[in-house]
Amino acid sequence: MPMICLSDFEAYAKKHLSKTTWDFFAAGADECCTRDENLLAYKRIRFRPRILRDMSVMDTRTTLLGTEISFPVGIAPTGFHRLAWPDGEKSTARAAEAMNTCYITSTFSTCTVEEIAAVAPNGFRWFQLYIHCNRALSERLVRRVEAAGFQGLVLTADLPYTGKRRDDIRNNFQHRLTKLPGGARLLCSEYGLLPNSIDPSINWNDIYWLQSLTRLPIILKGILTKEDADLAVRHGVQGIIVSNHGGRQLDGGPATIDALIEIVDTVQDRVEVYLDGGIRTGSDVLKALALGAKCVFLGRPALWGLTYKVNEETWGLYVHSFSCSQTLGCHSVSGIGRNLVQVSKL
Ligand SMILES: Cc1cc2nc3c(=O)[nH]c(=O)nc-3n(C[C@H](O)[C@H](O)[C@H](O)COP(=O)(O)O)c2cc1C
Repeated sequence: MPMICLSDFEAYAKKHLSKTTWDFFAAGADECCTRDENLLAYKRIRFRPRILRDMSVMDTRTTLLGTEISFPVGIAPTGFHRLAWPDGEKSTARAAEAMNTCYITSTFSTCTVEEIAAVAPNGFRWFQLYIHCNRALSERLVRRVEAAGFQGLVLTADLPYTGKRRDDIRNNFQHRLTKLPGGARLLCSEYGLLPNSIDPSINWNDIYWLQSLTRLPIILKGILTKEDADLAVRHGVQGIIVSNHGGRQLDGGPATIDALIEIVDTVQDRVEVYLDGGIRTGSDVLKALALGAKCVFLGRPALWGLTYKVNEETWGLYVHSFSCSQTLGCHSVSGIGRNLVQVSKL
């Protein structure tokens, strides 16, 4: 089957993964309204295409906190990549390195940070942190991440408790993980972090705690309101990821693309603002950039690509889909602005 868009990779993954794994990747919280809204919200946004603008040369490069990437699409943190492919996160890291983009490695990675760094030594990586109830474990993890050459820490702040994902409960997903070969390793991840050991008491003061541990830039993931965006800036983070965890946590919150504008307007370029959730086409990328995201990140599509084992091809599709910016009249990332979309109709 020719793979020409990300839906093709989705269909492939659905066909080839076990039902339990597919359901885990696809899951949203409760009735999945927010998960689905993440995608639908893009369909309501229309472009304002411009003409006669010399589109003979295209430049998709941009920077994340000063590091250049080849196009403004990175890989969001998702756990348990060995459920999709035996090499797990090592393959993901290699693909991200080959495509010269940013890979945010999850705390629930099923390869160690040292293994990941060894297979893709020149890769640009951030590490996503969940803070453990036992702070000493998190401290040790941060030291390992620094020693392994990761260039940023992404603190996920929208998971005081895990969302209620109905299919995972029906499939007894947690229990089944322990039954897989190497299952205990998978469940605990390399860092001895059981899913229910994330500290639900984390609060704004923990940003200061993290800053006292590391000199790495801190990026806060899970922001959906201007109030929290402003607090994040005041607490000295270097970046914000507008995210609702792919709709897997709170059902009933906004689509991330709908939350983006008030956050960008509040932040006013004081820190970089990124977005994840529901990005499935090149035009979704453009709409998010037009509304002020510096870069977007992919969650589930990276897992589909990993299942097919051609992540490079998956990324190639994204670069290719930037061709829609040629017909939009925009030849570089820096030229993408709010005037390219009909904001009033949002
Ligand atoms: C299977 C799966 C596992 C995830 N694991 C994590 C995780 O370990 N840490 C985290 O911060 N976010 C996690 N997320 C959320 C993603 O980082 C991201 O916010 C979301 O998937 C983006 O939406 P999309 O899947 O529509 O692209 C996970 C998402 C999925 C689908």
